[in-house]
Amino acid sequence: MKHTDIKDIITDAASYIGKETTVCGWVRTSRNSKSVAFVEVNDGTSLKNIQVVVEKGEGDYKEPRVGMSVKVVGTAVEGRNGTVELNTTPAGIEILGDCPTDYPLQKKGHTLEFLRSMPHLRGRTNTFNAVFRVRSVLAQAIHAYFQSHNYVYVNTPLITGSDCEGAGEMFQVTTIGYNTEYKSEEEYYANDFFGKKAGLSVSGQLEGEMGATAFGKIYTFGPSFRAENSNTPKHLAEFWHIEPEVAFMELDDVIELAEDMLKYVIGDLLKKCPDEIDFFDAHFEKGLKARLEELISHDFARVTYTEAIKLLQESGEDFVYPVEWGCDLQTEHERYISEKVFKKAVFVTDYPKEIKSFYMKQNPDGKTVAAVDLLVPGVGEIIGGSEREADLGKLLHAMEERGMNLDLYSDYLDLRKYGSVPHGGFGLGFERLIMYTTGMANIRDVILFPRTVGSIR
Ligand code: 4AD
Repeated sequence: MKHTDIKDIITDAASYIGKETTVCGWVRTSRNSKSVAFVEVNDGTSLKNIQVVVEKGEGDYKEPRVGMSVKVVGTAVEGRNGTVELNTTPAGIEILGDCPTDYPLQKKGHTLEFLRSMPHLRGRTNTFNAVFRVRSVLAQAIHAYFQSHNYVYVNTPLITGSDCEGAGEMFQVTTIGYNTEYKSEEEYYANDFFGKKAGLSVSGQLEGEMGATAFGKIYTFGPSFRAENSNTPKHLAEFWHIEPEVAFMELDDVIELAEDMLKYVIGDLLKKCPDEIDFFDAHFEKGLKARLEELISHDFARVTYTEAIKLLQESGEDFVYPVEWGCDLQTEHERYISEKVFKKAVFVTDYPKEIKSFYMKQNPDGKTVAAVDLLVPGVGEIIGGSEREADLGKLLHAMEERGMNLDLYSDYLDLRKYGSVPHGGFGLGFERLIMYTTGMANIRDVILFPRTVGSIR
């Protein structure tokens, strides 16, 4: 159906004024008076609607209802405040799809919670239009950043035989159910599709390391799956994960990469989505734009885990989870560090080895590993990364300490055997980045169809 995007008409009004123009979209509002009617149409390409002014004349005008889809042929004219409108007659409006009065989005001002009950329709609201445009622009910026720095984009497998994070949070992939006819778990898995236990990958890192030790610099951008029973505003069972992995990169280089990449993508977002950022600033987080501008023009803070624990212990705050060296930082701790102490993005480094994964480079103190998490105000952790243990002996020792089945990791171990190099990388949770850049407080509102514990449709 030949028509013009409303976004193009609005951004380049001068090219359309005085010309016959066709738009297609959904009716947002409709007002009718004796001789003239006004219909606001939105086609999803822009936060802004186009106003259609219908000179009713002698024609038979059938007023379109909110939610109906329409095709409008009219003349573009200058409206009030420099806007562009379409002038038409009743014959210029064709109703493409009816919309009965039980349309749930008849009225404005629904809560996000209510809208979550209709993921298939909520994209038609301004809020979700803005969220998903930001999501799309950020995705493009992430690819642009890595592509322009010689990274190879690799697609790591979603079905895997090895658990990357070792936290036992894998969804199992199977074509047969377990039953008592199997004498052991091994026998059951041997009869299953892959002949061994398989699951959905929690991270593409292990395969990413294989890419990095061949192509030098790689990144992945795909879904990761976590069967963690975390019913929180920042956990999904299926989230999108960006994981750069780089040969010859030590912890400081990993930190530098994370900061540079984030500044680039957020800078690009500010340039490409000014209307969306203003919208979120006005409706969701006052000061969002200033916060993002500040972020891209200043250095991120940096603190070790040990220093962070001291800051938390000396804070005088009444935390729900007690703080002592060796504990995992909870969201309340992460937010205190980034919101109250540093008031900006902060890298926390060198965590106790017991609370981090087997693959992290062991520090000379024997107690900590070269890990880094990036904590940001409002969300908490958005990035987790590390320098990797490149020494075969030390890696084997860490895996044995954790009782891991080395047979499952033989390819991974080979990387330390054949031309091992210092290397590192990180994982950025895409939805957490979108939360941070939009001020949306619940991760369920930044992905089209959220999958969370106890909820799928
Ligand atoms: O800290 P994580 O578990 O690190 C890894 O998976 C490493 N293999 C990454 C690497 O070094 N290549 O996860 C990385 C990031 C987190 O900081 C968070 O932003 C996001 O992934 N993430 C989640 N996002 C939404 N829902 C969940 N359940 C998430 N789990 C992790």
